[in-house]
Amino acid sequence: MNIAIVTGASSGMGEEFARQLVSNQYALLGAPFDEIWLIARSEDKLSKIKTEIGPDKVRTVPLDLTDPSSIERFAGLLSETKPTIRLLINSAGMGKNGVFAEQKVTDTQQAISLNCSALSTVTQICLPYMISYGESVGKKQGPRIINIASSAGFLPQPGFAIYAATKSFVISFSRALHAELKSKHISVTCVCPGPCDTNFIKVSKNDPDAAFTGFKAKFVTSVDKLIPASLRAAGKCKSMLVFGFGQKCLHLASKILPTRWILFFESKML
Ligand SMILES: NC(=O)c1ccc[n+]([C@@H]2O[C@H](COP(=O)([O-])OP(=O)(O)OC[C@H]3O[C@@H](n4cnc5c(N)ncnc54)[C@H](OP(=O)(O)O)[C@@H]3O)[C@@H](O)[C@H]2O)c1
Repeated sequence: MNIAIVTGASSGMGEEFARQLVSNQYALLGAPFDEIWLIARSEDKLSKIKTEIGPDKVRTVPLDLTDPSSIERFAGLLSETKPTIRLLINSAGMGKNGVFAEQKVTDTQQAISLNCSALSTVTQICLPYMISYGESVGKKQGPRIINIASSAGFLPQPGFAIYAATKSFVISFSRALHAELKSKHISVTCVCPGPCDTNFIKVSKNDPDAAFTGFKAKFVTSVDKLIPASLRAAGKCKSMLVFGFGQKCLHLASKILPTRWILFFESKML
C-alpha cells in the first residue's frame, strides 16, 4: 500500500496539503496514493476533512504527538499495515508569543516536544517504510519528506525565543537528513514560510481573533500559494524552500549581517 502521511492535518497548512494531495496531480510525489493518513489531535476536524475530500482515500489517525503513548500507537499502526510511505509531511507545530521569563513552563515544553521531538521521532519511525522503496527506484521516484520550519528559524528572535530555536532545529535537522538520505533516494525539503493565514497566530497569542500586525502583517502569505509551491519544491528534490521575497531577504540578511545588529533591531520592536 502506497501512502502519504500528513501531521498537523486538522487545520492550516496540513489541511491544505491533504486537500492538494487527493487531487492526484503530484505524480512525482507518489500520487495517486492508496491512502492519505491525516494526523492531529482533533478527531472531529479530521473526520470532517475526510468526508469533504475523500472518505475512501483518507485515514484519520487522531494522535497527540507530544504524548509518548500516541507515538507508540502510531508505530504499532505502521507495523500492522506495513505501508510504503512515499510522502511524509511534518506540518504539526506551535509556538507561544511572549518573553521567555513570562511564559508557562508547560508551553515551552509543548513547543519543544511538538516542533523538535515529535517531528524527528515521527520521521525516524517512518523511515524504515521508505528506505527499501527508495533503494528500488531512481532519485526522481524516491520518497519525499517535507518538514515545515519557518523563517523564524534563521535567527534568534526575542519575544519568540523558544519557537525560533525549535525552527532552527528543524532547518538544521532537515538539511543534514537530506544529505544523509541522498544515497537512498529519499529527499527532504525544508519549507521556511513567513507569516501565513492559518490558526497559528491565534494559538500563539491565545486569542481566537488574533491576526498578524505591524511589520509582519505586510508579509502574510496564503496557504493556497505556499502549499503548491512546497509540493513542487519537494517534487524537484529541493533541500530548502524559502517562500516569498521578504523571507528570502531575511534569509540573506541572516547570512551576511552580524547577528548582534539584527538582535538590536529586533529588540527595538519588542
Ligand atoms: N502560520 C504561520 O504564520 C507559520 C509561519 C511559519 C511556519 N509555520 C509552521 O507551519 C506549521 C503548520 O502550522 P499552521 O500555520 O498550519 O498552524 P495551525 O493552523 O495552528 O495548524 C497546526 C496543526 O498542528 C496540529 N497540532 C498541534 N498540536 C499537536 C499535537 N500535540 N499533536 C498533533 N498535532 C498537533 C494542530 O491540530 P490539533 O490542534 O487538532 O492537534 C493543527 O492541525 C507549523 O509547524 C508552524 O510552526 C506557521
